[in-house]
Amino acid sequence: MILSSVVKTAIALAMLGYSAASPTPSSSSVADSHPTVPNELTLGVKQVPNILNETAVDANQVAKGYSLTNVTATPRGLTGLLNLKGATNIYGYDFDKLNLTVTYQSDNRLNVRIAPVNLTDVYILPESLVALPKVEGDVNTFEFENSDLIFSYDSENFGFEVKRASTAEVLFSTKGNPLVFSNQFVQFNTTLPKGHQITGLGESIHGSLNEPGTVKTLFANDVGDPIDGNIYGVHPVYYDQRYDTGTTHGVYWRTSAIQEVVVEDQSLTWRALSGVIDLYFFSGPDPKDVIQQYVKEIGLPAMQPYWALGYHQCRWGYDTIDDVKNVVENFKKFNIPLETIWTDIDYMDTYKDFTNDPYRYPTDKYQQLLEELHSNNQHYVPIFDAAIYVPNPNNATDNAYTPFHAGNESDIFLKNPDGSLYIGAVWPGYTAFPDFLNNKTQEYWNEQFKTWHDRIPFDGIWTDMNEVSSFCVGSCGSGRYFDNPVHPPFAVGAPATSYPLNFNVTNATEWASISSAIAATASTPVPEATSSSSSSIDSKNTLAPGKGNINYPPYAINNAQGDHDLATHAVSPNATHVDGTVEYDIHNLYGFTQEKAIYNALLNIAPDKRPFIIGRSTFAGAGHYVGHWGGDNSADYDMMYFSIPQAFSMGLSGVPFFGVDVCGFNGNTDMELCSRWMQLGSFFPFYRNHNVLGAISQEPYVWESVTEAAKTSMNIRYLLLPYYYTLLHESHTSGLPILRSFNWEFPYDKKLSGIDNQFFVGDALVVTPVLQPGVDKVKGVFPGTDEVYYDFYTTEKQNFKNDKNETLDAPLGHIPLHIRGGHILPTQEPGYTTTESRKNPFGLLVALDKDGKAAGKLYLDDGESLNVTESLYVDFVAGDNELSVSAFGDYKVEQPLANVTILGVDKKPEGVKFGDSKVNYKYEKGTVYITGLEKYTKEGAFAEEFTVSW
Ligand code: NOJ
Repeated sequence: MILSSVVKTAIALAMLGYSAASPTPSSSSVADSHPTVPNELTLGVKQVPNILNETAVDANQVAKGYSLTNVTATPRGLTGLLNLKGATNIYGYDFDKLNLTVTYQSDNRLNVRIAPVNLTDVYILPESLVALPKVEGDVNTFEFENSDLIFSYDSENFGFEVKRASTAEVLFSTKGNPLVFSNQFVQFNTTLPKGHQITGLGESIHGSLNEPGTVKTLFANDVGDPIDGNIYGVHPVYYDQRYDTGTTHGVYWRTSAIQEVVVEDQSLTWRALSGVIDLYFFSGPDPKDVIQQYVKEIGLPAMQPYWALGYHQCRWGYDTIDDVKNVVENFKKFNIPLETIWTDIDYMDTYKDFTNDPYRYPTDKYQQLLEELHSNNQHYVPIFDAAIYVPNPNNATDNAYTPFHAGNESDIFLKNPDGSLYIGAVWPGYTAFPDFLNNKTQEYWNEQFKTWHDRIPFDGIWTDMNEVSSFCVGSCGSGRYFDNPVHPPFAVGAPATSYPLNFNVTNATEWASISSAIAATASTPVPEATSSSSSSIDSKNTLAPGKGNINYPPYAINNAQGDHDLATHAVSPNATHVDGTVEYDIHNLYGFTQEKAIYNALLNIAPDKRPFIIGRSTFAGAGHYVGHWGGDNSADYDMMYFSIPQAFSMGLSGVPFFGVDVCGFNGNTDMELCSRWMQLGSFFPFYRNHNVLGAISQEPYVWESVTEAAKTSMNIRYLLLPYYYTLLHESHTSGLPILRSFNWEFPYDKKLSGIDNQFFVGDALVVTPVLQPGVDKVKGVFPGTDEVYYDFYTTEKQNFKNDKNETLDAPLGHIPLHIRGGHILPTQEPGYTTTESRKNPFGLLVALDKDGKAAGKLYLDDGESLNVTESLYVDFVAGDNELSVSAFGDYKVEQPLANVTILGVDKKPEGVKFGDSKVNYKYEKGTVYITGLEKYTKEGAFAEEFTVSW
């Protein structure tokens, strides 16, 4: 329906809670002046985080806990009634009666659920939002003796224990500590063995282990990657690896609540600020088993399109479509593979979603570039921000922004508690926020995305700011949106004047030539979004019944914003969804629900194409829909290192398609850092270079040496695309991560538990990156007494010792890479794009183990269909000097097999045969190189079963 702008204005005003006579802008004319969101609107109320407050009450010491009565056996477990032993109301009003339900869901999964008997005002996370693990098999029968987990309890002072049946070890025990269950504070505490190895509890920038003293704040947050602070995503699951018994288990609390987890020497305390206890124990017994058991329940990872594995280039600051075109052309000129070009908010018309700037990104030129990209088998991905601009009804041009009106007419935006529109502020000015609990939102979303895509046929979506971020505290735009468009309350894009650690030492020439430029551009520093001066809140004063004091809960988490206010840089906890649900209860789900809606909107555009989405805020299950990038890191060596544990943690969270801003986002990178990072990043599943507005250019062609370094490792990545794609598929079907820690590959060698400066890609490749400046050697370990490792570049067998820290040569431009014996990797000749690579001949890299054996597999399909009808599975097995290859499935591979390279052959073979035919080969330093196989495999590499013997 097309409405006149007068009618639209009237509707808009009504929905916003204003009459047409509402006040007009305080500033002069909107048309010719753009005010800024006043700084005072960004100031929250300073909170003293409980964990930093030495006078804070320790609920474990004070609470009286519950006693258990009415225990009744059920076919799958038991139920009981928990009775409060005495109210202490420490950080909320205690519930006096709770229901306990214990369910043995399968032999390796146990559910413990504790919820108030009276559920009024208690948030229950519906299955429609987050997957609910279900009982396996017949709900009315269970062979308890088959369970690997055993539940037991103490009644008088209620506490429970979960033991592992096979080893009798206690995995989890709340015994001895009171359960605390109030409207705004739910807490339990489990004992842990000394020297525990706890991983998980993402998302944060931290080493891979959560050592004693770690506090994890689980509250989705738009903040530039602070170490140990809460960042974009929330994954309430931990993995506990036990070295004495050689077992691992996992614990998942299925809750969207705001949480904090304190890991101590011998205990773990888990707190949530609302909801119920819904715990799932996964028995493993190995880390990879636990990962699969968990990820299967939250949602198996998305099968990404094949092209997602290509190289992605992005930056904030491709000012015009011509800039973008230049970048694409430069990649071609320097012959650096470019699969996908991305644009940041620069393309938008004053940062409004679904628009493009008519001058800087005019539609005709934009479309033309996309056409060119597509005809070259390249792709384009734009950023998309979570909030929708609220146009100024007094400015006809501004008010012509239909995406807001369409949403407002359908009434799909978040509201204030009084029913008026919640208006925050993001890049374009005052904005509204789609409510993904509203059934009408998907339809609105489908329409907006379809219209946008009809004009700008993008290939995927990069979804940003969906924590959900807002630059002011509360509904700051109510009564002020007449000032729109307004500037954000800080400089857009930091002036990037910083350079990486040791920059001026290792890059003396570069430094000399630009240090004066830095001095010239240094301008006003970006103000920290911090505190008003109001003093801290006394938790007792904020106690409130019902849902409680949701804006300032009595227990203050250590939210990584200057003033720790929950509404700083986020939509406020009291923003309200269509069904009355408050953001307070589901803030952590905003990004996840939005990503699902984008996924569906992309399917609406192309029903059988795998949607490609990279999302910022993730929750348990998000990996089913999106991949993730690590957010706003900085261009320094520390952040390059942290990308590895962050990848492990996302792998444990079911989001394996992960990468960070290669070369660094904030600040200026430099030649050396970018060279190292371009090489490291090439082994991550998602490989994208991105940086902030105002920073120097960092495309790999900017420095000759980086061009070379990048091309070297991109060549390896593209050669290994069939291996990576097979790993993607394994991940999609099993939940296993693609990048793997030593800790999962050799789970019970304690010395390896904290290794997070090296990693495996699948089970077969070890990457040992240089993570510091000014060095040309790197240390690494190569575990396993029976393992054999080969240098990827020379194919030579290495003499690594299991317990030794080896020193490897790593001059700039070289990233040490080793193949683990026992594995067979499918390869394909690299092309400029993944599409071209797929047209090239295959190869096989056979790395024999100490017994001369190896195995591997290959999965292929058309690389883009959501519902795959034709696929191909190929098995490779080598032993006794013979490689056998057999395939099944009806996806046709037309490209031949060109070569087979066998590593670890002790002496030169007398001859080599393909089937019965003698073939050409070369033998050098333990490697047999067999080439010229195309003539035997003309019908396609895997059309027939075959053997190669030597
Ligand atoms: C924040 C994102 O994390 C970053 O990648 C992006 O460049 C800026 N927003 C601007 O859109």
